[in-house]
Amino acid sequence: MNRLLLGSAVDVLRREITTGSVDMVYSDPPFGNEQVWAGKAGSFDDRWEWSAASAQGWEALNRHSAAAAALLAAVARTAPARAYLGVMAGIVTELRRVLKLTGTLWLHFDDTMGAELRLLCTAIFGPGLEAGTLVWKRTLGGHANAKSFGRVHDTIACYARSPAALWRLWRLGTIGGDPCSPGWEYRFDTFAEAAPLAQGDKERVGYPTQKPVALIEELIRAATLRGNMVLDPTCGSGTALVAAQRLNRNWTGIDLSPDAIATAEKRLEIARPKQAAFDFGEVA
Ligand SMILES: C[S@@+](CC[C@H](N)C(=O)[O-])C[C@H]1O[C@@H](n2cnc3c(N)ncnc32)[C@H](O)[C@@H]1O
Repeated sequence: MNRLLLGSAVDVLRREITTGSVDMVYSDPPFGNEQVWAGKAGSFDDRWEWSAASAQGWEALNRHSAAAAALLAAVARTAPARAYLGVMAGIVTELRRVLKLTGTLWLHFDDTMGAELRLLCTAIFGPGLEAGTLVWKRTLGGHANAKSFGRVHDTIACYARSPAALWRLWRLGTIGGDPCSPGWEYRFDTFAEAAPLAQGDKERVGYPTQKPVALIEELIRAATLRGNMVLDPTCGSGTALVAAQRLNRNWTGIDLSPDAIATAEKRLEIARPKQAAFDFGEVA
């Protein structure tokens, strides 16, 4: 049931993941900020050049909405930005395909390409299906420069596969299914509480841009129930998969990098499910 798959997200999704089989996708992809991220457990390249994947992604976006594709092409001012957005359009198109009608996509990004990614997702998912955005304060200090404010927060935007998914999310957040759900208290407020990982935090595994398990647990509790399938197509060190395993959800992880897959594998071997006494199964 649980699988770690090595390869590019679009290829692996096409080859391995059945249409309409996933309850929740969490993806924390490269943000398009034109740098290489390196740590002792691995690295990944966030610099972009036009590729076959970029071209295919733009074609897919154009099929969803020619108007949105034209607008996005007009606002994506650089060649790397156009290359990046093409790849992301291809991934998001596949993610929509694999979601159940009651499923949701939670896409994590920062201001680098935030506006473009929201337009892209709205074009692919269709209007009226963005449930909202969460703000997560990822660091205490950011450095303003001549081009932008200091960046201290990330955004996590939630897209529903259909109106039924919006309804399910609301039901989980209000009536609840999982009594540990943050929905019981915050009912989709737009601020994620989890603290960033401090330097030297024992949770750190040395993979660059690693996110805290507590942050993703908040999202998984808000969107799924025990036994549901959580997919992360850019899983890095496997944080979302660890969160899913701890909450008794099933998971699938995909990443391009063998170091990422090896790191995730090690973390998942020792991640134990939390006390399940309060955890319910699927509600109608
Ligand atoms: C921001 S990191 C994810 C970090 C992760 N959330 C964590 O907590 O460790 C982005 C990941 O996306 C992967 N990646 C980049 N392009 C990809 C693609 N086309 N398909 C699959 N994975 C990709 C990188 O190798 C990197 O591990």
